[in-house]
Amino acid sequence: MSLFTIDETRCKRDGLCAVDCPAGCIVFEKGGLPVPHEKKQAYCLDCGHCMAVCPADAIRLDRFEAGGAPLDKSLRISLEQAEQFLKGRRSMRAFRDEPVDGALLDRLLAVTGYCPSGHNARPTRWVVAHGADKVAGVAEAVAAWMRAESEAETPLAAALHLPGIVRAWDKGMDLICRNAPVLAVAVGPRQGITPREDSVIATAYLELAASGAGLGACWCGYLLAAAAHDAGMREFLGVADGEAAYGALMLGHPARRYTAIPPRPEPTVRRL
Ligand SMILES: Cc1cc2nc3c(=O)[nH]c(=O)nc-3n(C[C@H](O)[C@H](O)[C@H](O)COP(=O)(O)O)c2cc1C
Repeated sequence: MSLFTIDETRCKRDGLCAVDCPAGCIVFEKGGLPVPHEKKQAYCLDCGHCMAVCPADAIRLDRFEAGGAPLDKSLRISLEQAEQFLKGRRSMRAFRDEPVDGALLDRLLAVTGYCPSGHNARPTRWVVAHGADKVAGVAEAVAAWMRAESEAETPLAAALHLPGIVRAWDKGMDLICRNAPVLAVAVGPRQGITPREDSVIATAYLELAASGAGLGACWCGYLLAAAAHDAGMREFLGVADGEAAYGALMLGHPARRYTAIPPRPEPTVRRL
């Protein structure tokens, strides 16, 4: 299989694919057609920049089944809209007793495939509890870990205030997964280029995509703590030995609406 196919009737011979390729996989000489670099084509990241930058839709990476989807300029958002969207996102800790549509969930998870990742490795996979009963099962497993930590009076139990969360759990209050109808856990390899960063970014993408869909989301830090410290929790989630849970989100239809953006301090910036 060659690296890419050029539609000669469409190619404008502008060399944009070659200049934008981050790995130098494409050779372009003025007036000619782009061709794969004899050696460097092996370094292709599958990032698809060549396809994304071509205004004539003339190049197709052969390993992709589909061509690129055109960007819809009419959906481009302004800085004001981006600011409103990003500053207006809040962690949602109260969910309506209403299921989340499976097709919508799949659509949101698919968006995470477009986030940046080191070397475009996209190492994240998702473990999803879909349904309040399934999420409650995960919360119960986390509560069991919290109870063991609390009874052993570990420094972690004190630092994370676990005894209070266990007391609440025993009174029927789920402060762990907040009775969410969906929990999505981002799992990635321990070894690799930037697996932790990649999964954290993928989780942030999911949170933002959920916000765009009118769903509420909140990071589930307690689950991450349990998965980090307890092999039984990792086994429960199906996290293999060479893997870690790097991100976790509770998701569902929001039971509250936020109508204001709370103040945040200006970022600390040191200019060089
Ligand atoms: C890594 C991480 C873990 C978190 N874990 C929890 C959690 O376990 N429970 C919870 O209610 N909120 C959790 N949060 C949400 C934060 O408390 C929240 O982002 C912060 O208070 C700011 O509020 P905002 O997201 O509405 O701006 C977590 C956030 C992050 C980034």
